[in-house]
Amino acid sequence: MPTPTAIEWEKYRQIVILTGAGVSVASGLPTYRGEGGLWESRNIAWIADAANLPGSLPALWKLYNERREKALGAQPNAAHNAIADVQKQWGSGTRSITLVTQNVDGLHQRAGSPDVVELHGSAFRTRCTNASCSLPAFADETVYGDDVPTCPECGSPLRPDVVLFGEMLPAAATWQVNRALRECDLFLAAGTSGLVSPASNLVRGAAYAGARTILVNLDPMDPRDPSFQEEYLGRAEQILPVLFGS
Ligand code: OAD
Ligand code: ZN
Repeated sequence: MPTPTAIEWEKYRQIVILTGAGVSVASGLPTYRGEGGLWESRNIAWIADAANLPGSLPALWKLYNERREKALGAQPNAAHNAIADVQKQWGSGTRSITLVTQNVDGLHQRAGSPDVVELHGSAFRTRCTNASCSLPAFADETVYGDDVPTCPECGSPLRPDVVLFGEMLPAAATWQVNRALRECDLFLAAGTSGLVSPASNLVRGAAYAGARTILVNLDPMDPRDPSFQEEYLGRAEQILPVLFGS
């Protein structure tokens, strides 16, 4: 493995940073896969599948009430802070730094990241399950009790505004990512297993645009699919501050 050295930001114009659950591990939040991961239990795969709505709503709320409580009690770590610092220091004028996260925990925002593209939604937003209801999705830190909360406009059940399996990604987020990838010259992914598409395919879009591509992760990438040019194996909260010169 090469030794990480600080990125020369002045060399790049269109930077995309993609994060996954691994960047929040040092904040005490679990990943999805692997030992102790959220998806360990079979039940969770059922809960997170849109095909099981609306019957899964009580279990979905139980999961997201717990995730809200845990994330509210957590603090951003050195990985979130390094990203926020670099966005603030280098991401203005003719240089753009697009932060794209698969995380729903809100920790990038709390670290001060000015813009966060949330590909999989947010645990801290709630919306109505009735597609024709006029209630817009709203910011919500409430940890509800056992009952599924209901919509003040139409009385239908509410749900966390997160992307479940079988659902489309938010159109605005997809559009922002695709726009940033078109002229991307530096793509860095951190703390993600690269197993869930379309996020896992973004690196290919960046490579196609001619970008330098870097992975920072605890586990190595799949040797059969070496999508990244550079790989730094270890903890994002240790490696990102070095790479980002913070
Ligand atoms: P995963 O749980 O699939 O992968 C987390 C990755 O983080 C693993 O490859 C770990 O090796 C790595 N990791 C753990 N601790 C780390 C640390 N301190 N520093 C760096 N890396 C570390 O999580 P994601 O890739 O984020 O989607 O999962 C992608 C999507 O799968 C999630 O957004 C979720 C899930 O299904 C939806 O819910 C739609
Ligand atoms: Zn409604």
